[in-house]
Amino acid sequence: MRSVLRMDYFEIIGKKQLNGIVKISGSKNAVLPVMAASILNDSPLKLNNVPTLSDSRTMASILESMGSKIVFIDNNSINIDNSGLDNPFASYDLVRTMRASFYVLGPLLARFKKAKVSLPGGCAWGPRPVDFHIKAFEKLGVKIKLENGYVLANASNIRGAKIHFPKISVGATGNVLMLAVLAKGTTVIKNAAAEPEIQQLCNMLNEMGAEISGIGSNTLTIKGVDSLKNLDEISIIPDRIEAGTFMIAVAATGGKVVLENINSMHLKDVIKQLTQVGVNIIEKGNSLEIHAINIDIKPSIMETNEYPGFPTDLQAQWMILMCLANGDSTLKENIYFDRFTHILELNRLGCKIKLDGSLARIKGNRKLIGADVMSTDIRASAALIIAALCAEGKTTISRVYHIDRGYDKIEEKLTKLGAQIIRKK
Ligand code: UD1
Repeated sequence: MRSVLRMDYFEIIGKKQLNGIVKISGSKNAVLPVMAASILNDSPLKLNNVPTLSDSRTMASILESMGSKIVFIDNNSINIDNSGLDNPFASYDLVRTMRASFYVLGPLLARFKKAKVSLPGGCAWGPRPVDFHIKAFEKLGVKIKLENGYVLANASNIRGAKIHFPKISVGATGNVLMLAVLAKGTTVIKNAAAEPEIQQLCNMLNEMGAEISGIGSNTLTIKGVDSLKNLDEISIIPDRIEAGTFMIAVAATGGKVVLENINSMHLKDVIKQLTQVGVNIIEKGNSLEIHAINIDIKPSIMETNEYPGFPTDLQAQWMILMCLANGDSTLKENIYFDRFTHILELNRLGCKIKLDGSLARIKGNRKLIGADVMSTDIRASAALIIAALCAEGKTTISRVYHIDRGYDKIEEKLTKLGAQIIRKK
């Protein structure tokens, strides 16, 4: 499945305004833990508003490799039947392509009391360890051995514990939650992630009978229960990062676009920041109108932060917007110390961005000219697409399999809005 998309590239002719309506898909970062949590369910679970992504297909393949039956009911609904899931093993071959595969460890331990899961590999922007996950599992009483790149874990004797993450981690919070709900006694997670995707996971677990409180805050208290009940159906929350990417694309290219199927509560900081640099945004229920015709983008001093702050997953996209601002900006990355692979590629298109530690200094008023560039990760690819949409002439973006991991039919959606973007092989 991965290799099918390996050779695809995008050809984009820039300088087209975006206008019209775009429907935002379900959230990548929410569907993955929800699919992992389905392991705790042994009768069929229907997922609605599922984005069509290679990452969700990877998670489906992992579940299938363990014995699940997954049926795609239509483009955006799947049925997961985990009654036949009997092999708590996730291979390197599958896990290495997607770090979030590691989410299966917690629910496998909860259901089978033992599991063998490959350690995720490196990442395009440097090492992204799973030490917080492992240490927290050990605190819950899980016995862990690392052997030949695999985590061999035994959870036959687990109990609630106090966990304090050194840094907020979305993945570690989700993973630990999926085990702690069935541990004897109470678990308290301090410095827990408050991201909407973790909120959805908590709400799902509570619907199954878990007792999690503090949802949406940085302290989660989980009273362990003896068993969970099955859940029939769940609808994945809208993807706030896809929404933010479209909002920034409209701001950068000009035009007027209505985003449908969004939750503006999850986008509060993005709306605030875009408004501050001069974009007009009107909130209407579950849609947002972005007006950016003939606007002058103002420079900004920005930094990424955990939710509810400005997401690191929009850092690269914001950077390109600031290249078009009428002055110089700075952007500090606080979540990852080296998530900057897009800078060299953006500079090939005429941006002038310099890195000073984890602070990017961005020259404004840049005139962008099309060039051949390469995607390096999901969000970096999105920034390159936005840059190409604003550049004079033709840009080709190679390795678009990165974007297919996290953006549902991006070229179709952009084409409908008036962009000239073609996928080629
Ligand atoms: C999730 C998101 C990703 C987003 C990131 C931060 C998913 C599928 N992916 O990734 O899109 O960019 O949150 O919002 O939801 N860390 C450690 N040790 C660990 C775990 C994390 O040092 O065991 C560090 C990381 O290197 C990073 C920080 O903690 O510096 C936050 O990472 P984390 O929140 O865990 O990211 P992911 O859950 O992998």
